[in-house]
Amino acid sequence: MPSNLRDHKRAAPDAGKAWETVVALRRRGRKQALGFPLELPLGEALLTIARGGGWRVEPDPPPEVAALLALYLPLALVPHGHGFVLAHLAQSLDGRIATTGGDSQWLTGEADQRHTHRLRALADAVIVGAGTVRQDNPRLTVRHCAGDQPVRVVLDANLTLSADRDVFRDGAAETLVLAAADHVGGATRLGHAEIVPLPRDGERLAPAAIRAALARRGLHWLYVEGGGVTVSRFLAAGALDRLQIALAPVILGSGRPSLQLPEIAALSGALRPRVRHVPLGGDLLVECVFHD
Ligand SMILES: NC(=O)c1ccc[n+]([C@@H]2O[C@H](COP(=O)([O-])OP(=O)(O)OC[C@H]3O[C@@H](n4cnc5c(N)ncnc54)[C@H](OP(=O)(O)O)[C@@H]3O)[C@@H](O)[C@H]2O)c1
Repeated sequence: MPSNLRDHKRAAPDAGKAWETVVALRRRGRKQALGFPLELPLGEALLTIARGGGWRVEPDPPPEVAALLALYLPLALVPHGHGFVLAHLAQSLDGRIATTGGDSQWLTGEADQRHTHRLRALADAVIVGAGTVRQDNPRLTVRHCAGDQPVRVVLDANLTLSADRDVFRDGAAETLVLAAADHVGGATRLGHAEIVPLPRDGERLAPAAIRAALARRGLHWLYVEGGGVTVSRFLAAGALDRLQIALAPVILGSGRPSLQLPEIAALSGALRPRVRHVPLGGDLLVECVFHD
């Protein structure tokens, strides 16, 4: 950073610039090990990141920029090649992610929807279960923010989905279907998507095997976008580093459940992760940290 830029009074950065800096940092981290301390321009301000992730912006940024950096910098700084899995679910106050018929668009507001696009942009791969592709026909691309398209991964052990789903035919990003090897036969493609056979673990594909198969393809930072069954299986297997629950101020009273884990007999068996709370528009994001 030239000294004249260090010294003159700099204009405060806005959230758009801050997100561009997060994306630039993630791109750099994907290509090479990040050297610390790191200095990056943030509009006319300067972002300094220390080894260990501590950071500061000079001059002091507006609160919305500080909040954005606090939420996304730790996610952008995950070292390349280091396995990292984050899941996100949008749910009602009574723990539902959709109506019984499957309507989930949109439980949470625009800020959380933009947040999910930002998570896609940070991830190497976005993972969804077959139920979500069947019900929502999502594109799983980055559209509401700047950033790179993740590889799209659909879990469909028994290859139940048809090739007419958008993710299999739009060619918008590389797409993989993970299926049980005993069900794949000689099939190699579903529309544009590549079918990847994995060993079956009972009725399922083990999250550890999913992580390992994706890691072999250079996909380490994984974003599990839903639905409830898929996220629950990762959580039950101890395969999540972080879980983000976006709580919408809505009560459905019925509908598809968010997390479902094996029954516990006493509260001492409950998971008690470290959490932080982040307001997202009219919703509240609760981030659970299972592993640092
Ligand atoms: N609010 C939100 O954040 C959010 C996000 C996404 C989706 N949704 C909503 O959630 C609903 C769908 O969610 P859902 O919980 O019913 O289903 P889901 O998690 O999308 O899909 C579950 C199915 O995916 C396959 N699958 C998942 N994990 C697997 C594994 N480890 N190994 C093998 N197969 C695996 C299985 O398919 P098979 O049973 O065929 O083997 C499983 O039944 C939709 O209504 C959608 O709109 C809400």
